[in-house]
Formats: sequence, C-alpha cells, structure tokens
Amino acid sequence: MNIPFLDLRAQYASIHKEITAALRQVLDSAAFAGGPFVEKFEREFASFCRCQFAIGVGSGTAALWMALLALGIRRGDEVITVPNTFIATCEAITFCGAKPVLVDIDEQTYTMNPDHIERVITPRTKAVLPVHLFGQMADMDPIVEIARAHRLFVIEDACQAHGAEYKGRRAGSIGDMGCFSFYPAKNLGAYGEAGAVVTNRGDLADKIRMFRDHGQAKKYYHRLIGWNGRMDGFQGAVLSVKLKYLAAWTEARRKNAQLYSDLLAGVDNVITPAEADYAKHVYHIYGIRTPNRDDLMSALAKKGIGCGIHYPVPVHLQRAYESLGHEKGSFPIAEKCAEQLVSLPMFPELSQAQIEKVYGEIQSFLRVKV
Ligand SMILES: Cc1ncc(COP(=O)(O)O)c(C=O)c1O
Repeated sequence: MNIPFLDLRAQYASIHKEITAALRQVLDSAAFAGGPFVEKFEREFASFCRCQFAIGVGSGTAALWMALLALGIRRGDEVITVPNTFIATCEAITFCGAKPVLVDIDEQTYTMNPDHIERVITPRTKAVLPVHLFGQMADMDPIVEIARAHRLFVIEDACQAHGAEYKGRRAGSIGDMGCFSFYPAKNLGAYGEAGAVVTNRGDLADKIRMFRDHGQAKKYYHRLIGWNGRMDGFQGAVLSVKLKYLAAWTEARRKNAQLYSDLLAGVDNVITPAEADYAKHVYHIYGIRTPNRDDLMSALAKKGIGCGIHYPVPVHLQRAYESLGHEKGSFPIAEKCAEQLVSLPMFPELSQAQIEKVYGEIQSFLRVKV
C-alpha cells in the first residue's frame, strides 16, 4: 500500500461536480480577475475567521507583503519573527525594505517564544509577526501584550492555520491583520495560487484593496503606488465551494492526528505534536521529532510512504539571509527542530489502515535501529 504525503486528488474526487459547476459559472460570466466570485468568498472567509474584512490577493506571500505595506513598514524598520518558517514570512519583510529580526521558538509548540521578544526590541522595531506553524497558533496573549506595551503592530502569519483557535478566537482575528495562503496543499487550498488578508480595521482593509489593484479606489484614478495582487475569479469560486467543507476536513485531520498520537505514545525516540492548552490545532502538518530523522524517512520512502521536512534549513542559516549575520547555534531550538522534524502523511481522507501502516513501519524501523 503506497501512502502519499498528501492526496489532493482524493479530495477533488469528493467535490468535483460542485467544482466543475462553479468553474463553469466563472467562465459564463467572464469574471476572471477579482469580481463577484472573489467578493463572495471574501464575505464568507471574513465570517469564517470572525473578522469584519477579508481581502483576496494573489498568494500568501502577497498577503504578508501588502499587510506590512498597509501598516507603513518601510526601509530602516525592523519586524520581529521566527527562523523556523517558510521563507516567505521573511521575504515579505525584506520586500518592504525592512529587516527581519529573529527570535527562537518554544520547544513544545514550535511557535514564537514570547520570552525572547522584549530583548530584541529597538527604536526601529515596528511590528511582531508570529507564525502559526503547522496549524497551531502562537501564544498570542503575551505577544499582543508586549506589542501593545511597545506600540508595535501584530501581524499573524496564519498561512498554515485556517480555522485554528487560540482560547476560542480564530487565527487571523487577534492581531492587527492576519495573512492566509490558499496554496493548493493548504487546509483550504485553491486550484492555483491565492491568499487573503483579514482584519477588523476598515482603514487597513481599504488600503489593501487599493494596493492589490494598482493603488486605485476608482478605475484609472490611482491614489497610491500599488501592485497587481488580485485574486482570480476561478480561485474565488473554488474556495467558496471548499470553505463549506473545511470544518469537516479539519475534524478529520484532528481525528487522524489523535490516532497517530495514540499509536505513537510511549514509542521511544519519537516526540509527537503537543496541542497547547490554549489551542485548537488544525494539523496542516503532523510533524514528529526523532533523532534518526533522515534514516527514518529513507526507510519509509522504501515502503512507499511519502514524508516531508518542514523545514530542513531555518531562515537564519539560508544563504539568502546570510546578510543577517547569524550562524549555527544562534537559535538552538529552531535548529534542533530542523534536524529532527519529519512530517508524516496528513490529509482529511487518510484512512485508519493507512495511519496504522505508517505507525507499523515506524515501529519496525525503530526496532531494527535498537
Ligand atoms: C508559514 C507560511 N508563510 C507564508 C507562506 C506563503 O504563502 P504562498 O505560498 O501562498 O505565497 C506559506 C505557504 O507556503 C507558509 O506556509
């Protein structure tokens, strides 16, 4: 039995009729760039996030970049974030001309450790950008408290956390703005590239609407220098269909995660994900930690089991960010995670038999090793 890391076709098979009908509606109305299908999805997604506004854009990277721009982040500014994220978090900061200032993570949740924030705040710091990694939110109360005390903005990178919760509050709804990716592999994935910014601040929503559309509030009257960052109509239509199923898909992911964790509990040399007391984890990624990660991955690959590493090199050790001047040892927890984490197959349609097979192969690998 081959078990893929992710099976997007299984999900498509369950909704293909609705998707085809939705795509046909876009074709029939020729609403390809922005337009009514995007606006409908924006209303639905804002309500899902329990926010007043959602603005559809071209990707999660664009969402982060435009959120920072809307807050006025620019050359010379500093934005505090974490090294164990997809590089887009830092790219967005860099593309505003600002500098990413990194802090290490909490070893249980793999998200920003609030204890490290205050010591890196300088007069240039403008914002804190926690990443809700793998589907679990960062510890937002202390992060927001520190940010407010120092008059800093808070932007949530919620690209992996659609529907995740912190003390009952949805990802994206706590900071000044929340940024989402609808990259096809995400819990809510488009059939192409797409993203969104959510916020409760009307002034920021208006700015992002202008930025994503060449700075125009009215066609050909440009108030700002903006960009083409619109979401396309096909993606809006697909996302509206898929959003209806997201709650059920999330529950399926949580059930799968529970089964993995029950089976792997007590297995030596395996650390399963911890769901913090404050959190509802949506398991975009089910990552376990083990010292022999690379060997385990090769053994599972030989048995037809697909795994991933998120992420093999933390941002501060990437060549692209050499200029930040960090070295090995700068962020020990993030580095340990990069060396030990392996992401097991995780998607809503994964069956109990498939999970048991993955567990069985992990067991036999560990037995041979001992
Ligand atoms: C944490 C994080 N931030 C940002 C992004 C960027 O999103 P996108 O690929 O839609 O540009 C992603 C997704 O890949 C992500 O996982």
